[in-house]
Amino acid sequence: MSNQVNGISKRLIVESSNVKLVDGVLESKFNYRKNHFEHRADGLHVTPKEHEYSFKTVLKPRKTGLLLVGLGGNNGSTAVGSIYANQYGMTWRTKEGSNQANYFGSVTQTATVHLGYDSATQNQIFVPFKDIVPILSPNDLVISGWDISNSNLYDAMARAKVFEPELQEKLRPFMEPIVPLPSVYYPDFIASNQGDRANNVIPGSNKLEHLEHIRADIRKFKQDHELECVIVLWTANTERYTDVRSGLNTTADEILKSIGSNEDEVSPSNIFAVASILEGAHYINGSPQNTLVPGIIELADRHNVFVGGDDFKSGQTKFKSAFVDFLVSSGLKPECIVSYNHLGNNDGKNLSEARQFRSKEISKSSVVDDMVKSNQILFPDAKNPDHCVVIKYVPFVADSKRAMDEYICSIFMGGKQTFVVHNTCEDSLLASPLIYDLAILTELASRVTYKVSDDYKPFHSVLSILSLLLKAPVVPPGTPISNAFMRQFSTLTKLVTALAGFPSDTDMQIEFFTQ
Ligand code: NAI
Repeated sequence: MSNQVNGISKRLIVESSNVKLVDGVLESKFNYRKNHFEHRADGLHVTPKEHEYSFKTVLKPRKTGLLLVGLGGNNGSTAVGSIYANQYGMTWRTKEGSNQANYFGSVTQTATVHLGYDSATQNQIFVPFKDIVPILSPNDLVISGWDISNSNLYDAMARAKVFEPELQEKLRPFMEPIVPLPSVYYPDFIASNQGDRANNVIPGSNKLEHLEHIRADIRKFKQDHELECVIVLWTANTERYTDVRSGLNTTADEILKSIGSNEDEVSPSNIFAVASILEGAHYINGSPQNTLVPGIIELADRHNVFVGGDDFKSGQTKFKSAFVDFLVSSGLKPECIVSYNHLGNNDGKNLSEARQFRSKEISKSSVVDDMVKSNQILFPDAKNPDHCVVIKYVPFVADSKRAMDEYICSIFMGGKQTFVVHNTCEDSLLASPLIYDLAILTELASRVTYKVSDDYKPFHSVLSILSLLLKAPVVPPGTPISNAFMRQFSTLTKLVTALAGFPSDTDMQIEFFTQ
């Protein structure tokens, strides 16, 4: 007999014996079909097996606060302003006509998921991602945060040059009263050209005191707004890499000790990550630097909080992670990828110094690795294509970043195929929806536990389901990194449908070619 579970959403009712609703908790069973492999002398042995997973999902989203490090930056001010614009249904005129606030670019708010084919009409059935299991809307998020610049968010928004003037004026009453909290500033970690911005800095040079200050900020925010879940997200300037070495930050105890002894190599983002974890707040790194050192990951595990990173996958790299997958899946061999950018916002200014550029170069370059490894016919020696990343600072274009990519592939019979892609876009209009998605998916993950054989437990502290939104995903030690966009999307949609009690349709369309 099947159970009918109402209340997953208004529009979706799951009829399945694999799911039941008990006291606001959705309990679902999921048969995970997985092939097991053995490399033997006579070849590769494949054994298909099924593993039963049980999930429990607390249905009601928690009251969630999002603390942005870099609140007064282009992303920070755009992310906050866009929420007010959506909450109040704002419209504004441009010379092309009237615009209305929306959440385009947010997977959780605007993507749909293919559930299968309706056998009566043969129509494909798609449902909004947000209707499969209950999730927050960005409008529900309580937002605050820190910045080393004391500009209020109206001035920050004007400085960012992202929104049209009419929208800026409509947002003014909401944005002007918001002034970022003072932050931790260690000049050695971001570009020296940022110094004139740093007028909102926690005094002193004692890193333990800085840690306690940030912890107190998080506690106060949580209490003031009676929050059940707090997420701290770094969208501040790209830092240089920190050293990773034994004695400094390779264990939880080491990083705590290094803060206590005021080690130079402890970065501001390390302080924020540790403060968040110690306060039970999840921590996400939207920039490329290596904040999530092994000691911080161990600390997150110890305190049962999630960490995720690195670097928003917003424009050029997002396209690359879909396009290179498409090329390799088509049997074409990318030989050379040259990615050139110029941008004129403060991010570009910061990246114009070598050590900060290097952080970005690393995160932008790793994105094709898994696709190269996927095809030994095209890449018999697993050597990556030549991959060159250039970023130039050109103030005039402000946030309207230009990304130009050339892809050259080897094709049939020694031919060459060259693709040239030109992408122009306000960078922060791409990044802000990812900020919401990272927070919304993290909050969802905090309501889920799973069981394979023994007791229910939460997901791994390194929340790799966020990979879709990140250029250089940090994953649990020893697990593979997936960069290909559609595979990442499918991981996420398969997870939410499994939580809802109906595994994704096999989508083989067998009924159409066996009729
Ligand atoms: P931005 O430079 O406009 O904003 C960064 C803000 O962080 C500034 O207001 C700055 O004053 C502040 N800041 C610097 N150090 C700080 C600290 N220690 N504590 C608190 N605040 C601090 O940059 P934008 O465009 O908002 O980008 C933010 C970050 O996101 C950058 O690291 C960028 O590389 C990364 N990113 C942006 C993407 C996009 O905009 N599409 C895509 C991928 C990553």
